[in-house]
Amino acid sequence: PGTTRPHLAGEPELRGELARHLGRLRGVSATPSGVLVVGGFAQALTLLCAVLPALGITELAVEDPCHPGQRRFVRDNGVRVVPVPVDDEGIDVDALGATSARAVLVTPAHQFPTGSVLSAGRRDALVRWARSVDGWIVEDDYDGGLWYDGRSPGPLALQRLAPERVVYAGTASKVLDPGLRLGWLAAPDELLHRLLHVRARHDLGTEAFTQLALAELLRSGLFDRHLRRLSQRCAVRRRALEEAVRIHLPGATVRGPAAGLHASVRLPEGTDEAALVAGALRRGVLVRGGTAFGAARTRAEPALVVGHAHLPRTGIAEAFHAIGAGFSRPGPGSGRR
Ligand SMILES: Cc1ncc(COP(=O)(O)O)c(C=O)c1O
Repeated sequence: PGTTRPHLAGEPELRGELARHLGRLRGVSATPSGVLVVGGFAQALTLLCAVLPALGITELAVEDPCHPGQRRFVRDNGVRVVPVPVDDEGIDVDALGATSARAVLVTPAHQFPTGSVLSAGRRDALVRWARSVDGWIVEDDYDGGLWYDGRSPGPLALQRLAPERVVYAGTASKVLDPGLRLGWLAAPDELLHRLLHVRARHDLGTEAFTQLALAELLRSGLFDRHLRRLSQRCAVRRRALEEAVRIHLPGATVRGPAAGLHASVRLPEGTDEAALVAGALRRGVLVRGGTAFGAARTRAEPALVVGHAHLPRTGIAEAFHAIGAGFSRPGPGSGRR
């Protein structure tokens, strides 16, 4: 890049490579000029929260449960948060339709944190909803097609069903490194223009060397190779996790497909989630209970959310040994609160 400033929308080399890569890997429908490079999903969300009010939108529906930091982030950026429940098919679109929200933030490929995949029927319904309210869908594809579930092919991006209604957002945080602060958006022209306008008031673009390095990784095929290797490593960890759950948490099940860097574990009904989490922490293992992710912080269904990004296979077995030391399978009749 020499001594010039980065391009506000991103380096042309990277926008071109991303348009190709996202089209091929995720089915995203975008031209290079429809791609905007940002400082991670966090910046994408900041920019969107600044643009939505200009479109007459002051509320953003979010999945419940979701990343608690995102709820806070949206609220702190001046947009009202409307939680909408999630089940094994992803977000409940009927419940969304009953709210007054005209924009929604979803994780369709691999819901965070439950791991559910937005079903084909719900995808169609979500697009119909967006059209009927003249609204927007923000697709947070945070784990970037990291899919190693041999039983099924990974789902493609929701954006391809309605590129005129969906803002697709990706990040390098899971598949490369969160320290890079690198992310990307694909958005319809009018919205992209508004996002750029807001961005010009925030910063003067994303650091250029990192962008060019990612462009080269994509161009050379090294990124594909990295994804394949990462998937293989994750598949080994997932198998270890499933085995550890079987041994140390009898009656619990790992939810959702083998994808991403975390797994959600559904605990048997009647399990004291808070006690299990506190006991694990006393034994030196930090694990979150499902309650930590719910909007109301009350959940009928006990669960654990386990990040396995930094754990070797043996670390997973050790961690579950420590978690399971505080677990006794609830007897029949120990129902919900
Ligand atoms: C649901 C979800 N979306 C997005 C991100 C990534 O955000 P960023 O790109 O700002 O690091 C994360 C965390 O890494 C996440 O858990």
